[in-house]
Amino acid sequence: MCGIVGAVAQRNIVPVLLEGLKRLEYRGYDSCGVAVNDGTLKRARSVSRVAELEAQVQQSGLQGGAGISHTRWATHGAPATNNAHPHFSANPNGEHCIGLVHNGIIENYEEIRADLMAKGYKFESQTDTEAVAHLVNSLYDGDLFRTVQKAVKHLHGAFAIAVFSKDEPNRIVGARLGCPLTIGLGQGENFLASDAMALAGTTDQIIYLEDGDVVDVTREGVTITDKNDQPVERKVNTVNAYSGAIDLGPYRHYMQKEIFEQPRAISDTLEGVQGFVPALFGEGASAVLERVNAVQILACGTSYYSGMTAKYWLESIAGLPTHVEIASEYRYRKPAVNPNALVVVISQSGETADTLAALKYAKELGHKHSLAICNVPTSAMVRETELAYLTRAGAEIGVASTKAFTTQLTALYLLTMTLAKLNGRLSADEEQNQLKQLRHLPTALQSVLALEPHIIGWSETFARKENALFLGRGLHYPIALEGALKLKEISYIHAEAYPAGELKHGPLALVTEEMPVVTVAPNDALLEKLKSNMQEVRARGGELFVFADGDSQIASSQGVHVIRLPEHYGELSPILHVVPLQLLAYHTALARGTDVDKPRNLAKSVTVE
Ligand code: G6P
Repeated sequence: MCGIVGAVAQRNIVPVLLEGLKRLEYRGYDSCGVAVNDGTLKRARSVSRVAELEAQVQQSGLQGGAGISHTRWATHGAPATNNAHPHFSANPNGEHCIGLVHNGIIENYEEIRADLMAKGYKFESQTDTEAVAHLVNSLYDGDLFRTVQKAVKHLHGAFAIAVFSKDEPNRIVGARLGCPLTIGLGQGENFLASDAMALAGTTDQIIYLEDGDVVDVTREGVTITDKNDQPVERKVNTVNAYSGAIDLGPYRHYMQKEIFEQPRAISDTLEGVQGFVPALFGEGASAVLERVNAVQILACGTSYYSGMTAKYWLESIAGLPTHVEIASEYRYRKPAVNPNALVVVISQSGETADTLAALKYAKELGHKHSLAICNVPTSAMVRETELAYLTRAGAEIGVASTKAFTTQLTALYLLTMTLAKLNGRLSADEEQNQLKQLRHLPTALQSVLALEPHIIGWSETFARKENALFLGRGLHYPIALEGALKLKEISYIHAEAYPAGELKHGPLALVTEEMPVVTVAPNDALLEKLKSNMQEVRARGGELFVFADGDSQIASSQGVHVIRLPEHYGELSPILHVVPLQLLAYHTALARGTDVDKPRNLAKSVTVE
């Protein structure tokens, strides 16, 4: 999604800005731009990649000691050069005097726009952002910091902005409300970015701004004021944003790299786990988890499917009633609240706007206890929950989530086991057995990854199709959903997932020789039922692509293709069974020639509603 990088220094900062934008590319964007202040405001914008912007900048010789830059993911107005940031606002003689970049959505921009148009400001874009640039210009009194403090009071919505003025070349002002913004501290130079990762390699001294903060960034230092315009100190953190994250190594795509990193990611996520104890989830977890009598899970996208899987575990193993809801739905309805339910938010990024809003809403509704399962330790979600379990997947760059999902499942299994133990449902022997199973996961994953050549064979068939159906039952229904999501996200093949028992109630009407049907068929209690569902598909000419366990007793035959996972994995089976589905989506997309890591219209981190 949108990204911001800004800098004030004694050197030419354009290379720093472009490097920062490259580090944010993985989040998804459709246009980008950079602007500098060298006494006048100058900019370059592109509806292509950052590499193209860089070529433009080299050609034009754009350089300066203060600058702002942006990757845009279109919300208001199409991806077009005039809509790309930075946006400029001019004074009455047409000279550009304010430059601004913005993440988020300004809800009252139409009002502001109408007001400023009436005052004679000329709009060149369809964006909400341009209205903010003109608003700052209209309020400008020679002190940009003071002006931005005033301007943000007119804005409704969620935003992070970085602004500079032609008349104040040693200054960039930032502000945030509902969207992340960080400050990077250097020696005689300072930076601003929507994500600390943009500054990896430039500085590791990072300040996370709070909602309502406005920051004055100059070469000499930074000054921050809070929502009441009072000066505040914010903690300086040493952040080792993983600078190696952009190194692809031997892989063709980040998604492929991340799929293959899963054994390591899971082993890191389990590091230090000696038993299922509340302390795994943070200080004070014992008092909270002992009191919990239900679980409310809130998440979006792939993280939602990990929550759906966990519901099966939490109810059957820990005996706790569990509700799972898409965050964007939950935040706008009036749910019946059980204050002793533990609210669990699941998020790779920890910055997903809907999940953050749902968490806030749950607290307003009276929920007392919250826990984040998250991959980014410094994220808003981790800061805003009482408890947390940090997955250690490492930076995930591919838009389609893979290792974040399996590490989330690992963390959710630890939560299930811990709650089961607290509820007297886990004997000491069973605890040891479960720990053994968990520790075996990385090895088990390696053998599943070794199935890649067989899956490549199948992907050639899928690449020629326009539709696919995924079936699963019980614990593996959410895995079928995740498999369908992966395929549609990156190969653009329409894919749907159904709990197999529902086949006769609709989707069977779609089954013909043209419909490949992927079946997740572990050897569990529902396998015999699933086999009957598979017969229903075969009887209508549908071609079955079955992921079975080693001991599933499903044989290949005419129209039935079977890949066997090497072992039978019991309750942990979803963590293993999702991997071949990730590989199937990846190789199908590869065969279709799509942009695997940056699928069209999608973003890695959805920081707007
Ligand atoms: C976007 C990403 C998905 C991700 C979802 C939730 O849609 O493309 O991969 O699952 O956001 O993101 P989160 O960071 O909250 O897990």
